Amino acid sequence: MNTKLYTLITGSSEGFGKALAIECAKRKMNLILVSLPNSGLTPLAEFIMQTYNVHVIPIEKDLSVEENCVALYKEVEQRKLSVNMLINNVGLGSTMFFKEGTIDFYQKQVKLNVMVTTLLSSLFLEMLKTNQPSHILNVSSLSCFFYLAKKQVYGATKSYVYSFSKSLRAELKSDNINVSVICPGGMNTNPTTIKTNQSNHWLARQSIMNPDKVAVIAIKGLLHQDEIIIPGLMNKLFLLIEKLLPDFMIKMIANSHVNKFQSYNIGNGNHEQQLLSQTSQP
Ligand SMILES: NC(=O)c1ccc[n+]([C@@H]2O[C@H](COP(=O)([O-])OP(=O)(O)OC[C@H]3O[C@@H](n4cnc5c(N)ncnc54)[C@H](OP(=O)(O)O)[C@@H]3O)[C@@H](O)[C@H]2O)c1
Repeated sequence: MNTKLYTLITGSSEGFGKALAIECAKRKMNLILVSLPNSGLTPLAEFIMQTYNVHVIPIEKDLSVEENCVALYKEVEQRKLSVNMLINNVGLGSTMFFKEGTIDFYQKQVKLNVMVTTLLSSLFLEMLKTNQPSHILNVSSLSCFFYLAKKQVYGATKSYVYSFSKSLRAELKSDNINVSVICPGGMNTNPTTIKTNQSNHWLARQSIMNPDKVAVIAIKGLLHQDEIIIPGLMNKLFLLIEKLLPDFMIKMIANSHVNKFQSYNIGNGNHEQQLLSQTSQP
């Protein structure tokens, strides 16, 4: 039996997941990294092992397929790996009018953002109970508080993650499992998101953060057992404004710039191509 404890991070070949992996490695946590096949996970695992002297296991799986989530759990079990920290990071973003997306895309978004978070929490629950102290970190988004145009399905999936996390936290308290939820604002994680972040409302642009910085705040908050982690002063200020101003003013500010947001959905070639061709123009 491998007596090491592992932190499992989904969607960790790129973006925020990769930043979380590096932050955990800096804190000497052993890692199980999960991402899509051929996503460069193995070289990343080798880099992290050599640089931070921790054990890293890359597992390539398309988590949007339910059987692959079950297969991931079985592989961890069969290899007798002990997970005491589960980070449900994988997620599909989008910024587009509802009519611009396909049902196939929305299904995948709901699966990855909602179902994978739920399923993996369920599959790993007993293991987390055994390997104390244990934690679950779910990645939501600041957009779960604002009901923004062009974020309808995405925002709703993140509201689910937020609500699920808070309820689960209350339930698992007696099992001594900490559940935290992080709600980042914009992060410059991948080229598509960076372009969209640049087209955001001036106010929203002030809150955009580097994923490495958010990862430091995330892991610190998780180990501190914070219920809700809001990274950055501007994001905290947005939430305060949301509580103080009347609803009609919030809606006016939040959606005033909506037609200028560039539409994108990661994982749908057409929109991504459209966005990239738009942004390559002077
Ligand atoms: N970026 C933001 O502004 C922002 C703001 C708030 C919240 N968030 C949340 O933060 C999380 C990470 O976002 P991000 O911007 O870092 O995303 P990202 O740059 O698109 O990275 C997503 C990661 O998930 C992997 N992945 C995608 N589909 C997968 C699948 N079907 N199975 C397994 N792995 C898969 C990707 O692998 P490949 O490299 O192979 O595609 C990549 O490693 C998401 O939950 C997102 O909603 C992001």
